[in-house]
Amino acid sequence: MKFNVTEEKIADIQADCEIVIVVDGALDHKWVREKGDLETLDFKGKLDNVAFLPHQHRVYTGVDSLDRDEIRLAVANALKAIRKAKYRSIKIGSYVKDCPVTNTKAIVEGALLGTYRYDRYKSEKEPFTIEEMIISLEEYAGKTLNLDPAKKAVAEAEIIAEVTNHAKEIVNTPPEDMTPVLLAEYAYEMAKDLENVTCFIGDENFLEEEKMGAFLAVSRASSHPPRFIHLVYKPEDAQKRFVFVGKGLTYDSGGLSLKPSEHMVSMKADKSGAAAAISILEGAARLKLPFEVHAIIGACENMIGGNAYKPDDVLVARNGKTIEVRNTDAEGRLVLADCLCYATDQKPDYLVDLATLTGACVVAVGEYTTGVMGHSSPLKHSLMSAATKSGELTGSLPFNRYLKQLLKSNIADISNISSSRYGGAITAALFLDNFIDEPYKEKWLHLDIAGPAYVEKDWGYNQAGASGAGVRMCLYWMKEHTYTKNDTHHKKEQ
Ligand code: BES
Ligand code: ZN
Ligand code: ZN
Repeated sequence: MKFNVTEEKIADIQADCEIVIVVDGALDHKWVREKGDLETLDFKGKLDNVAFLPHQHRVYTGVDSLDRDEIRLAVANALKAIRKAKYRSIKIGSYVKDCPVTNTKAIVEGALLGTYRYDRYKSEKEPFTIEEMIISLEEYAGKTLNLDPAKKAVAEAEIIAEVTNHAKEIVNTPPEDMTPVLLAEYAYEMAKDLENVTCFIGDENFLEEEKMGAFLAVSRASSHPPRFIHLVYKPEDAQKRFVFVGKGLTYDSGGLSLKPSEHMVSMKADKSGAAAAISILEGAARLKLPFEVHAIIGACENMIGGNAYKPDDVLVARNGKTIEVRNTDAEGRLVLADCLCYATDQKPDYLVDLATLTGACVVAVGEYTTGVMGHSSPLKHSLMSAATKSGELTGSLPFNRYLKQLLKSNIADISNISSSRYGGAITAALFLDNFIDEPYKEKWLHLDIAGPAYVEKDWGYNQAGASGAGVRMCLYWMKEHTYTKNDTHHKKEQ
């Protein structure tokens, strides 16, 4: 779908169909032409109300306010309602208020995120016919209109939504078709098409050389060998260095601490952190952000077999710390331990790991919300405020010294599980903390995306399956760093 912005009046634009956003029941707005029909259909003009009038070729979609996430949702709802009508072009009026950027971006993101479908394995694919969406800024046109900011907003929103959809595609791919080797190939091919991006791939020998004993142990029982993936986007004169680390379990059976059948289904999604890190890097490169960005991924499978690592094993991580294995299903933290050691060697200004790490996080904050953990409150807050703008939900989970003590081991430096059943999301993060060198503690954030990364029913503008969790919040967050402190105008618009 292509997007065009114009100052032309919505009524004068030629298109097969029109989307009308109705704000908080305002059925008297000049863009509402069929008030009577809408009342008959019980369309109230509130969030999640949609009314498609096929004879008029108009679809009405409600919002409670012009909050940008409601706009994303309204556009996605409208496109869903007209999907079967096979239109080729559609037009939409933007309530631009005092700025043509925010709503334009939300319209584009809502359209692209909302119309994503994973149909690779469907024999009959439902065709998507809309080729063009024309966005009218007529409400803004009274003022001196420069279309450039709106065009730039479209281009940025397209990139952000497309790379989010790429993350969904990786996660939705079944485990046999997205093994560690295939995931590394995906990253390598992606890097070839991007400017200023390089990709290094390490195999088992590399893991041995790097003394990544924890990562190796998790990988050992799989017939698919592990891969270490390191992508770097390095533009000229980069201002800051962002390092993203992703958990890339292309399958998590639980290992010898085997998962029960119901919990094993959907564990192809245990590579969601990796998918997010790869897609964040793609987004950063395509947005040409003025930062050096790294994506470091530990990709492997957690399987069973005669050579599987086992409860009671003691592993040695890259930084020399010893880990007593008490549950092989707490494998993500073992892979991340070695990757985080490697990540701190890159001397990051910001270090963020993304992982479907714990079921406990889903219990704590629900399946739609990412758990945010770290030592620095300002850092947590800056990411969380960017997340809200991006449309992603976050909740902060607090560290404390008592939870930290629950990871003590009698025979090694640390145990891979907590001795208590409570606070599992936080104790998992506190385990990772052992692998962050002192100077980087305040620069580190841990994002537990176990809930939102993969939900087995539609929610908002997300489809059942993968949602690309983490991608939009991190890209919005990095973009916020591109503005200087007194550049308040841009900060507000973005
Ligand atoms: N990959 C799972 C976490 C998970 C659970 C992700 C549900 C998505 C949805 C992780 O490796 C795991 O199994 N964690 C265990 C930890 C426990 C053994 C301490 C868990 O959450 O039960
Ligand atoms: Zn597990
Ligand atoms: Zn896992």
